[in-house]
Amino acid sequence: MMRPTPPDVLPLRHLLTTDGLSRPQILSILDLAESFLPVGARAVKKVPLLRGKTVVNLFFEPSTRTRMTFELAAKRLSADVLNLDVAHSSTRKGETLLDTLRNLEAMQMDMLVVRHAESGAADFFARHAAPHVSVLNAGDGRHAHPTQALLDMFTIRRHKADFTALTVVIVGDVAHSRVARSQIHALRILGVPDIRVVAPRTLLPVDIETLGVRVVPHLETALRDCDVVITLRLQRERMQGTFLPSEGEYFRHYGLDAARLALARPDALVMHPGPINRNVEIASAVADGPQSVILEQVTNGIAVRMAVMAQVLGRAPGQESAA
Ligand code: NCD
Repeated sequence: MMRPTPPDVLPLRHLLTTDGLSRPQILSILDLAESFLPVGARAVKKVPLLRGKTVVNLFFEPSTRTRMTFELAAKRLSADVLNLDVAHSSTRKGETLLDTLRNLEAMQMDMLVVRHAESGAADFFARHAAPHVSVLNAGDGRHAHPTQALLDMFTIRRHKADFTALTVVIVGDVAHSRVARSQIHALRILGVPDIRVVAPRTLLPVDIETLGVRVVPHLETALRDCDVVITLRLQRERMQGTFLPSEGEYFRHYGLDAARLALARPDALVMHPGPINRNVEIASAVADGPQSVILEQVTNGIAVRMAVMAQVLGRAPGQESAA
């Protein structure tokens, strides 16, 4: 007799956040991504898994990496991909999100990949989507960016086998970063014991310590003996009012330069979700240096997004986790 699959390893219908995922769920996505990674190195970069499925990219905010790699991931899985050009779409004529959803459903789409400036936008689409439609969150406000966090976990795992022995530093504009939030949840779920967060007070969320991280006031102290440094962009588009004295002063206190990086372990990884602002949060020499895996993160993002899409659309009807 077949044993029922425990709920913590059931495939997801949607991916909206890393908060509340189980360790087996994350690991199964990372393992599947590992199997997709070689596809990108083949002469024919395609597998037929999602042939006949329709994926819609709906990006209300600017994006280079996330949008392109979601599109590439869907195409490498042989899905049909539509990209709604929001700036020239009927949302500019006042069409609501719900009406946009209903119309895309009328075009028989199977999956919606959504980025929006409002926290909760992806959840809204997921709540209202027809039962066969899956929603992937490609970043909502300051809330979550789950595929970014998963591709970061994937990148870390490829270099550092054991999450439970790691020290990870996250430095920069944590307050406005959906990436940092999703990373912190994922790192905690995977058992990372020491997550150090460094930022000017004005760029730290008030609830940060409840997420299970340690706030360290000085970057130099935080970097000592760490295994991974994640740098974040100053997300000015989400700042209202003045949060910072000047970019020069920010770099003097919080910029990752070669002298500071030397305080970390010699094999420490340097990461950044992109887009980078050179010599604002990270020195050019460090971004392009031997410890940087910033472009590897981009390549890995394709395999991880393929894995998420394959899991979500490949699940058996009714065999899914509530998340
Ligand atoms: C991030 C985002 O949009 O949240 N970028 C990304 O998706 N790789 C981070 C940022 O914009 O700084």
